[in-house]
Amino acid sequence: MKHRRVLRAAVTVAVTGALAAGMTMALTTSANAGTTLRASAAEKGRYFGAAVATGKLSTGAYTTILNREFNSVVAENEMKWDATEPQQGRFSYTGGDRLVSHAQANGMSVRGHALLWYQQEPGWAQNMSGSALRSAMINHVTQVATHFRGKIYAWDVVNEAFADGGSGGRRDSNLQRTGNDWIEAAFRAARVADPGAKLCYNDYNTDGINAKSTGIYNMVRDFKSRGVPIDCVGFQSHLGTSLASDYQANLQRFADLGVDVQITELDVMTGGNQANIYGAVTRACMNVSRCTGITTWGVRDCDSWRGSDNALLFDCNGNKKAAYTAVLNALNAGPAIPTDPPTDPPTDPPTDPPTDPPTDPPTVGCAASVSLNSWTGGFVASVKVTAGSAGTSGWNVGFTLPSGASVTNTWSATASGSTGTVRFANVNYNGRLGAGQVTEFGFQGTGSASGVTPTCTAS
Ligand code: G3I
Repeated sequence: MKHRRVLRAAVTVAVTGALAAGMTMALTTSANAGTTLRASAAEKGRYFGAAVATGKLSTGAYTTILNREFNSVVAENEMKWDATEPQQGRFSYTGGDRLVSHAQANGMSVRGHALLWYQQEPGWAQNMSGSALRSAMINHVTQVATHFRGKIYAWDVVNEAFADGGSGGRRDSNLQRTGNDWIEAAFRAARVADPGAKLCYNDYNTDGINAKSTGIYNMVRDFKSRGVPIDCVGFQSHLGTSLASDYQANLQRFADLGVDVQITELDVMTGGNQANIYGAVTRACMNVSRCTGITTWGVRDCDSWRGSDNALLFDCNGNKKAAYTAVLNALNAGPAIPTDPPTDPPTDPPTDPPTDPPTDPPTVGCAASVSLNSWTGGFVASVKVTAGSAGTSGWNVGFTLPSGASVTNTWSATASGSTGTVRFANVNYNGRLGAGQVTEFGFQGTGSASGVTPTCTAS
């Protein structure tokens, strides 16, 4: 058991493990610690976020609160499928890019919401099914996650795929009808496209131990056991006038599977209990060391999709409500995320072999290995290229595809041909590799690529 050390106030905290590689964010505590949501959360190694409609960023009263109180944002609508790919293969990132710029300029991390959701599908996708839809959705995940690569702390890769009621099973949708493996296919594609982002499954009515949350729990446990890349589970927490007594226990059982948990869309029905419920949710998150942050679904009551529920922390004039004080107090009273000190030597000398040894450490030239994510009628191939002892100034990887297979889309390499023998050359930024250095590229295709093996040539 490694020693753990609790973060202290008044330091700059690089939250290792809690934040994605490539997006490691310095959470700087300041004179504001204890007096704003963002500073108090940061002091405890966490984020406090809000869903943002980018159209409101030009409203001074809105942006003043956003920048003062929140250090994480998520697009309320602008990164959804209908917004980012309104016509098939034609992508639009205006709103999402604007939000990312605002976040970067104001020391905020970004949650990405949502790569795949049965709602807010563009019309063209609503009319698709089967392998055509499977291909289109994997392409969507790949393109959007690639566009935002390195800028997203955590992606809701799949949103709301489980049914309400007591079944604990999947919700019917055209996505689900492409085959039960659609969720894992999406997670694998997202990992290839943005290896630095935490990949989350996100849902509602999961605010306690119930049939729906247990169905999701079983899926996450299965994914972890089979190596499907999932890092976090989002609990939307659109709440009414009471909170399940096992809210925290539910978060903890997911955390115990080895994933982070996040409260992703918090809002609470107005009324006498609102402040208490906000406080209790915040305390629950603080008490679960893998609960890395909380997002409210909007800023002021009048910004909320819940209209007259007055469900948020600020009233329509921007005044702090009792619920705000309850959250702030809970953030200030809660423990910090324990972190492993980076400098302590390990207690026991490591006995296990490295978990990810290079597949074929070549002495000259280069080596390539492929991992396939396949479904009926299609596949995504993730290819690792490892330079030999002389390094490379360029590389070229060849595959001979089985008959019927065809490459439809490539990233981080340039393809020659699409059927039979297909060759992939480096692009300008990943050709030059030092000895033993690894780079990755990928391609998507139709048909089956089962059994293919790559050959690598270096120049
Ligand atoms: O932008 C168009 C506008 O051009 C058009 O005239 C108008 C006519 O209906 O619609 C506008 O789009 C609306 C969009 O919000 C932006 O305001 C959509 O109709 C409307 O459906 C959409 O609602 C969003 C809803 O997701 C979509 O299902 C809400 O703002 C958003 O808060 C809500 O967020 C969801 C999360 O993504 C997932 N979890 C539940 C949560 C609440 O429903």
